[in-house]
Amino acid sequence: MIIVLNNKCNLILDEYLKYQEELQQIQSNNELILCPSDIYLSKFDLNNFKLGSQNVSSYKTGAFTGEASAKQLKSIGVEYSIVGHSERRNYQKETNTDINKKIKELISHNIIPILCIGETKEDKDSNKTNNIVMNELNECLLNVEDKSKIIIAYEPIWSIGTGIIPTKKEIDDVLKKIKEIYPNNKTIYGGSINSINVEILRNSRYIDGFLIGGLSLRTKELKEFINKLN
Ligand code: PGA
Repeated sequence: MIIVLNNKCNLILDEYLKYQEELQQIQSNNELILCPSDIYLSKFDLNNFKLGSQNVSSYKTGAFTGEASAKQLKSIGVEYSIVGHSERRNYQKETNTDINKKIKELISHNIIPILCIGETKEDKDSNKTNNIVMNELNECLLNVEDKSKIIIAYEPIWSIGTGIIPTKKEIDDVLKKIKEIYPNNKTIYGGSINSINVEILRNSRYIDGFLIGGLSLRTKELKEFINKLN
C-alpha cells in the first residue's frame, strides 16, 4: 500500500526535527511518502520514507516570486508531489487548468504526481460525485502523455478534517469507476483516516493506499495505523 503523509502547514523547525526522529523508527513494507512543509524539504533525512512536496509551481523557472519549480524540487530529492489538493483549489483558487500544467511539469522532471480529486457535500447530496470526479480527472489529465504513474487520490472535500468518512461502498464505487478508465493507476483514499476507521477500508480491492493529514502528526497513532497495514 501507499501511505502519503501530508503535514500541511504545521510544525516549527524543532518540532519537525523531533517528528522526523520518530518517523525514523517506523518499519513497514508499505510505500511511505512524507510531504512536509516546503521549508523542510531539504531537511529530509529518512531512509524508510520517500520525499514528497505538497505543491509545485506550474511555471518552469524565472521571475515567479514565492514559487518552487519541478526542476528545483527534483534537485533536492523530491520524488512525489501532491497536486490539486482541495485546500489549494479553495484558498489559492487553483483550477484544473493550473493543475494540468503542474502535472506536465512534474512528469517532465520524473516526479510522480499525487492528484487529488473529490466532491463537495452539496455535490454529493445532489448525486453529482461521479460527474465531478470524472470531470476533474479529464481536465487535470488533458493531453498528459504518460499517465500511468500518476497516483489518483480520491478525497471528498466534506470528509477532509471533519472526522466523517464515506462508507466503504461509496469509496469503492468511485474508485471502481476511476479504475475502469485508468486501470493502470494506483488509487488511494484521503479524508479523516485514523487507526480505527482504516480497519473497515483496508480490505477494499480498489483502495491502494491512503493520504493522511491530521493523523500524520499524531505519531503514536500513526505507528499503530501503519502496523495495521503491514
Ligand atoms: P485529514 O486530511 O486526514 O486531516 O482529513 C486529509 C488531506 O487533506 O489530505
